[in-house]
Amino acid sequence: MGGSTRTAVVTGASSGIGRATAVALANAGYHVTLGARREDRLREVATETGGRAVYLAAVDPKSIAAFAAACPSTIDILVNSAGGALGLDSVETGSDDDWIRMWETNVLGVARLTRALLPALRRSGALRWAHIVMLGSTAGFETYPGGGGYSSSKHALRAVTRTLRLELLGEPIRLTEIAPGLVETEFSIHRFAGDKNRADSVYRGLTPLVAEDIAQCVLFAVSRPAHVNIDEIVVRPVDQATSTAVHRREG
Ligand SMILES: NC(=O)c1ccc[n+]([C@@H]2O[C@H](COP(=O)([O-])OP(=O)(O)OC[C@H]3O[C@@H](n4cnc5c(N)ncnc54)[C@H](OP(=O)(O)O)[C@@H]3O)[C@@H](O)[C@H]2O)c1
Repeated sequence: MGGSTRTAVVTGASSGIGRATAVALANAGYHVTLGARREDRLREVATETGGRAVYLAAVDPKSIAAFAAACPSTIDILVNSAGGALGLDSVETGSDDDWIRMWETNVLGVARLTRALLPALRRSGALRWAHIVMLGSTAGFETYPGGGGYSSSKHALRAVTRTLRLELLGEPIRLTEIAPGLVETEFSIHRFAGDKNRADSVYRGLTPLVAEDIAQCVLFAVSRPAHVNIDEIVVRPVDQATSTAVHRREG
């Protein structure tokens, strides 16, 4: 793909925030490269956006390398949305396997892919600008009982993001962390291993954010003038004050 086509790479594009962001960026004129494991879902998003679906398993360095090799040689925007939570166990009872998967996906996977795509982002930076968007979380700076595995991974992602901002100083590469509170996507269904009732209870009695709300935050950040860097956007439902303070209506 040549330097005149505006390009975005979106991970986690098979569902939720990644999918909504891919649609929003395509509507804004970007050619989108879409990464995730569920290729049937990715193909649907590719059809909707005119983009390209490429298999990505974020815990597998070989898959990350193959994904990066399939991306355009010049990338304007990288949105790291692939990620999620597994379980709500205490630190005392938490499963090593769940913690390892969360850390591999939410931290190492993001770091590896960003590292692999930096040359392509630099090429775009040399032409105009480039932009990396990290899907962090309010769990990246707050904690809650049962959130130790997920929260520690998002704290780590936040540390990686802030480090990268220092290391990229002097280059035309912008870097934004979006930190949402409760967004109703497939996030809780995966967290609770497909238990829909338990997932629904997370949002019961309140009005959660939807994936499109976060996609609009991404669009806002990437559409600022080239000299403006939006460091962070923290966005929650009006019904949520912190990770633990949530207002639920009766009935
Ligand atoms: N929903 C919330 O309340 C919330 C709040 C704060 C932050 N976030 C963050 O926002 C991001 C997106 O979450 P979401 O709410 O959109 O959840 P979602 O609907 O479950 O989407 C998660 C996406 O990540 C992909 N993914 C997960 N593990 C992967 C892996 N190992 N390799 C490749 N892709 C993987 C999934 O694709 P496949 O399963 O097809 O691979 C899916 O496309 C995550 O980083 C999450 O931590 C969510």
